[in-house]
Amino acid sequence: MNTAPFPVRTLWPNPDGHSVNVIDQTALPHVFRIARLTTLEEAAYAIRSMQVRGAPLIGVTAAYGLALALRQQSGGDTLENASALLEATRPTAVNLHWALARMRARLLPLPANRRADAAWEEAGRIAEEDVEQCRRIGEYGLALLEPIAGRKSGRLEIMTHCNAGGLAALNHGTAIAPVYAAFRAGIDVHVWVSETRPRNQGLLTAWELRQHGVPNTFIADNAAGLLLSRGQVDAVIVGADRVAANGDVANKIGTCLKALAAREAGVPFFVAAPRSTFDFSRAAGADIPIEERSGDELRLLHGLDEKDAGKMAGKAVRQLPSCQAVFNPAFDITLARLVTAFITERGACAATAESLLSLYPEERNA
Ligand code: MRU
Repeated sequence: MNTAPFPVRTLWPNPDGHSVNVIDQTALPHVFRIARLTTLEEAAYAIRSMQVRGAPLIGVTAAYGLALALRQQSGGDTLENASALLEATRPTAVNLHWALARMRARLLPLPANRRADAAWEEAGRIAEEDVEQCRRIGEYGLALLEPIAGRKSGRLEIMTHCNAGGLAALNHGTAIAPVYAAFRAGIDVHVWVSETRPRNQGLLTAWELRQHGVPNTFIADNAAGLLLSRGQVDAVIVGADRVAANGDVANKIGTCLKALAAREAGVPFFVAAPRSTFDFSRAAGADIPIEERSGDELRLLHGLDEKDAGKMAGKAVRQLPSCQAVFNPAFDITLARLVTAFITERGACAATAESLLSLYPEERNA
């Protein structure tokens, strides 16, 4: 990810071996700010408050959160208690739960005095694997986009939802990795970026695409159907927070509306995700827990005061009284039959249980 003149990753361990830095995404796109996480509590807060967000990134942050906890206190029940605290931060993105399970499996057999160093190393491995997996998703996604681009004369039109770019992972991202790969390959590509109310993660996608120089246009979520029905989109690519064994996809609220509109318009709908997003223990989307977030995400709007924009001081503006009842589910379920293909680090596959097991045969008897 290009955040020049800043570091290229969303999270990086500090040489002191006792802290990690993250890009504070609550300040973007107005201010580029780095937050230093030194304790378990700071890591949990970063995930809960969405200073870090996006399924792969919260998985890596949780792994480092456990490592930070063990630096604070390696004995007693630290591993289980810290793990429970981090598990409770965000329920839907399975990467977080996958990373914590992997950390526990690696650390539990070790004596307490060896756990902190081992946790630090394992978290580092998870981070490096994420970078490589997302890079591969980019390559496999490019292989799907090249023929689509080759069949038309004008630019390749991609629509995405939420932020599944470099900010949502360690570096390349998932849904946006194929876009970056296409851009690097010289394909004339343009991205329709949907706002993604209420947390407006589309602002982050537009920001990072601008940093890379990838042409993009920001749209209100409600404009997606019009663009799809008019033939102005060649492919929709989104990320995922959890994919069930049958191929149903939990992703940011609003995803299933785009999938339905894409199906009606005959536009391919791709879901890009690494292994850590596939949850073979959940049979179908209905089994995936959906996070409900604070109603204030709907009652308040955040941004810069137009008259004061130069000061870059974010403000909250109330659009609803606190007594107004609201419902704020953060994710929805897109049924497997609406997904044209998954793009994973092992290649593309159809959204069926059998195809997923062919890609991940080790899950057949797990
Ligand atoms: O609530 P968020 O911003 O963490 O949700 C992120 C998404 O829904 C992304 O689309 C998803 O995590 C895939 S990102 C690689």
